[in-house]
Amino acid sequence: MSEHPVDEADFVVVSNRLPVDRTDDDADPWRRSPGGLVAALEPVMRTVQGAWVGWPGKADLEVEPFEFDGLSLVPVALSGDDVQLYYEGFSNDTIWPLYHDVIAAPGYHRTWWDAYVRVNRRFAEAAASIAAEGATVWVHDYQLQLVPALLRERRPDLTIGYFHHIPFPAYGIYAQLPWRKQVLEGLLGADVIGFQRVADAGNFARAVRRVFSYETKAGAISVPTPDGGSRVAVAKAYPISIDASVYDELARRPDIQARAREIRESLGDPATILLGVDRLDYTKGIRHRLKAFGELLNDGRLSVEDVTLVQVASPSRERVEAYMQLRDEIELTVGRINGDHDTVGRSAIRYLHHSYPREEMVALYLAADVMLVTALRDGMNLVAKEYVASRIDGGGTLVLSEFAGAADELTQAIKVNPHDIDGLKDAIMSVIELPEGERRKRMKALRRRVSEYDVARWSQRFLDDLAASKGASA
Ligand code: G6P
Repeated sequence: MSEHPVDEADFVVVSNRLPVDRTDDDADPWRRSPGGLVAALEPVMRTVQGAWVGWPGKADLEVEPFEFDGLSLVPVALSGDDVQLYYEGFSNDTIWPLYHDVIAAPGYHRTWWDAYVRVNRRFAEAAASIAAEGATVWVHDYQLQLVPALLRERRPDLTIGYFHHIPFPAYGIYAQLPWRKQVLEGLLGADVIGFQRVADAGNFARAVRRVFSYETKAGAISVPTPDGGSRVAVAKAYPISIDASVYDELARRPDIQARAREIRESLGDPATILLGVDRLDYTKGIRHRLKAFGELLNDGRLSVEDVTLVQVASPSRERVEAYMQLRDEIELTVGRINGDHDTVGRSAIRYLHHSYPREEMVALYLAADVMLVTALRDGMNLVAKEYVASRIDGGGTLVLSEFAGAADELTQAIKVNPHDIDGLKDAIMSVIELPEGERRKRMKALRRRVSEYDVARWSQRFLDDLAASKGASA
């Protein structure tokens, strides 16, 4: 780790979390987090002088800017209160449930909002102080929706992009937000506002029309400027992806293929392995999936002798009440299903409340005959794309909720409405019985899509539009 981070950056990424995790080892205090975003932006960060502004992931951790693995990192400290009110409160107990169509009830608390404003200001100040004259700043996700306007106010010379990784809801839902005007104002500070789906960009433009009566035309929004003129903010869909080649390479490794075989054997080599991989979040439809699977066992349409469901549920936002409740419900359900159906040698559900390194995930993807993505609402769902990218053998079937952003692109998946439990049960039965040729044909088309539209292409498209917007407004 060098002690000499940049003090002026031409390209600045701002996200709630830094792309590194703090370890407990003082000699080696940082580990790269496995997210795709850093992989996508790394080449850009290396060609221009880049910096990344974000929270180091622990309360009260004050760290000076530092260099890690060639990346210049600018930590933003959050106190215990900030974590509780800004991160767990407004970000993950107001915006998260509201934007996911109120699957859980959002809390509207003025103290949470005040903390959100305060922390967004801190991020904007950190970005403003590291950005060189005329730099490009790319802000990410719902935790930082006020940053674009705060940044423009401080630094009108900057080109500002914002990408929204989660859904943007229809106006009838968005309108609940007591601070709906301020949040739109915050986002409109960006030159390009990117969304996952065309529908999200449309919902945003509609909200802007309803709240401000600004003119919007094919994603170009005319925003008044303080001098009485106007500028254009572009709102458009840029579906995010993964670094598909990384999954492809891992899946070709003999040790990972051996691990996939070992996983199958350790489950008793059932005819079919179903797999679910999610953060333990109420948006993911884990309960619906378990219900459908449990009923198929009860109905005798499936038997533990032939089928096992492996459910990886990685721990997430564990101090937020809705997440605690969800965990209890899921673990009760898993316990009941296993209690009713397990035999001494076979288990209906192998439930794993852990997160795993990428190598182990790829082994699981290779071991699983069917991947179940049953989200009730999801910005994109990258697990669906990871599964496809890992299936170098052309095998495996993807069952995909029509409410996940990935459904717009992965049209050859078996689509399901997770609210329709009978439909979900029939879909699971039909994929288990799907003829080999049909299965391979679908996977081939899915793989083509995922390898062509990878995360590098996503960031290139966004940054090209951002650069063009600079030209247009100059
Ligand atoms: C989603 C959000 C990200 C967030 C991630 C993990 O994918 O779009 O912004 O970082 O979940 O959640 P966490 O609260 O642990 O950052």
